Amino acid sequence: MNKDQIIKIYRSKIKEFNKHNKLYYDKSNPKISDSDYDDLKKEIYSLENRHDFLKNSKSPSNSVGFKPSKSFEKYKHKVPMLSLSNAFDKDDLINFQKKIFNYLNKNINIEYSVEPKIDGISASLTYKDKKLKYGVSRGDGKTGEIITENLKTIKDIPVEINKSDFPNEIEIRGEVFIKKKDFIKIKDNFANPRNAASGSLRQKNPSETKKIPLNFIAYTYGYYENNSLKYQSQFLSNLKKWGFKTNKDNKILPNIEEILLFHKNFESKRFNLDYDVDGLVYKVNNLYLQNRLGFTSNAPRWAIAHKFSADSADTKIINIDIQVGRTGALTPVAKVSPVNIGGVVVSNVTLHNEDEIERKDIRIGDIVKIERAGDVIPHVIEVDKVKRKKDSKFFVFPTKCPSCGSNTLKEFNNSTKKYDAVRRCTNEGFGCERISIEKLKHFISKEALNIDGLGKKVVEKFWELNFIKKPQDIFHLNYNKIENLEGWGKLSVENLRKSIEKSKNTTLQRLIYSIGIRHIGVENAKLISENVKNISNFIKIIKHKQFDKLLNIDGIGETQVASLKLFFSDSSNVNILLELENILKIESISLVKKGTLKNKTFMFTGKLDGISRAEAKSLIEKNSGVTLSNINKNLNYLVIGEKPTKRKIDQAKILGIKIITQIDLKKLLNQIN
Ligand code: IVH
Repeated sequence: MNKDQIIKIYRSKIKEFNKHNKLYYDKSNPKISDSDYDDLKKEIYSLENRHDFLKNSKSPSNSVGFKPSKSFEKYKHKVPMLSLSNAFDKDDLINFQKKIFNYLNKNINIEYSVEPKIDGISASLTYKDKKLKYGVSRGDGKTGEIITENLKTIKDIPVEINKSDFPNEIEIRGEVFIKKKDFIKIKDNFANPRNAASGSLRQKNPSETKKIPLNFIAYTYGYYENNSLKYQSQFLSNLKKWGFKTNKDNKILPNIEEILLFHKNFESKRFNLDYDVDGLVYKVNNLYLQNRLGFTSNAPRWAIAHKFSADSADTKIINIDIQVGRTGALTPVAKVSPVNIGGVVVSNVTLHNEDEIERKDIRIGDIVKIERAGDVIPHVIEVDKVKRKKDSKFFVFPTKCPSCGSNTLKEFNNSTKKYDAVRRCTNEGFGCERISIEKLKHFISKEALNIDGLGKKVVEKFWELNFIKKPQDIFHLNYNKIENLEGWGKLSVENLRKSIEKSKNTTLQRLIYSIGIRHIGVENAKLISENVKNISNFIKIIKHKQFDKLLNIDGIGETQVASLKLFFSDSSNVNILLELENILKIESISLVKKGTLKNKTFMFTGKLDGISRAEAKSLIEKNSGVTLSNINKNLNYLVIGEKPTKRKIDQAKILGIKIITQIDLKKLLNQIN
């Protein structure tokens, strides 16, 4: 390539980059993924590195806007900032409450704190000695960015609180948002008020944040030193007393019926409010119950967001693509004429699965009503059959995998006694191209090996070039070859190498999750790794086909074990694991745990009194104990409730296992609490 051609490529990349930069920073409305954005940035850096004549003062690497938001300092939340599960109708709410009853093992009257769900950006404010110490964004829920100076420009956020009952240390959380009337003045620059608020908070210069009038409404807490409050409503009134803004429409309601009435009224009133709301949040008002209920891996059991109806629009189905996912699932996606729904341009719509297409009789060429709610992928509500052309044809779902041509299958589900709605490619292992690529993307993903220097786009590229076909190939890359590729340079290759090297230090949980076994997600990988303790034990189980041993783990059932058997019945999958074992440095699970029940194992038989198994299990785990689902010589205690199984008691006696009552268990737990 000659100099002119290089300059031409460089300029076009900068033009594209500036466009996305503007969308990201000024409009807070990115049109490409973070990894694609990073790839583009890398390509520019690499061209500059290789060709000195490209370095000039106009280079985006010299401008302030180029600095990614990543340059804000990171902050690990003391208590994670989780999201809320969603409810859309009465059934969802009844189900939510039923789960609470099950967990508490009791049907009781539950009073709810009902709060409008403002559609803004959440932030966490840490106060120490009555002064605002850190203001942090949500980030990925575990780690956020320190944006204290920007948050301090918001007049609703007190920087100092002179009240005697204000805790020594507390994280106060709430929503940052812009009012509709203020948004009108700047609407040409942003897609919606939420984007305006997020863009403003991300400014590197707080005086820029100050230009856009932001508001803050407080609604919950993270860490709270010596919290002795009894109710959420009490916390909300304290917030007000301490000088925070709370929502004037917050309510306490006694049951689901009242809640549904309130939701209906509020939904029609929402357009008269001076801020955007996308639903109501219901929280169990009693904090003691909240504490007992705790959290699942991503949301509290004690709260739910009840969404308002979503925005919708009519559009035309241009084509139906069949995408093949990591687990072989064939997902139909409709390409539609681009249409703007509530500020977002939609051109892809999920059709979920074969059954959904059949049920709604969705065809290419149809005019359909599509809906988009929050960050959920848009979907088809209904087909306008009046507008359908006479010669339109049924959509025939493929029975062979569009990627590798293998047979596809709808599995029979033994618990529901029905066939799955999802059709899957039957190719296990790395025989199917699309499945393999998706598996590789999974392998590098955040909760797996977390190789952030290797984006999804790069994986596709390296696959095409035959650089990576299996996970272990990532660790044998030829960096010289990569450096010679268009868009790569010394610096970007060095970053890639470092990121891959770093990922070699990993944990057993990450490894088990990363190899992409169906039904083995983060939680199950954790359960298995805690049980087998180290990679050699895991490999022993595989070599000796002792998967049934894993049925002992509370939480691992027949489905997971069957999936493990199927996965490792393919020898190429076993080889991948063995090769990875050689390459990686895998941390074993430490045997030394804190907590008085450390490494003690429990099993239940019979109904417990006033507490569910799930809650008892969680109490044991909080104190480093483990619950098993089978009796064996590793069991320390069999806890008997009402109507226990005689066979289990007999077995325990034979094995010399301690048999204890619920009261004994309580005593054991009290010793530590
Ligand atoms: S409570 C774990 N209360 O909704 C508890 N959240 O989907 C989570 N939100 O990230 C927060 N109004 O940005 C809570 N009154 C309210 C809320 C609220 C809006 C947002 C918040 C959160 C998201 C959860």
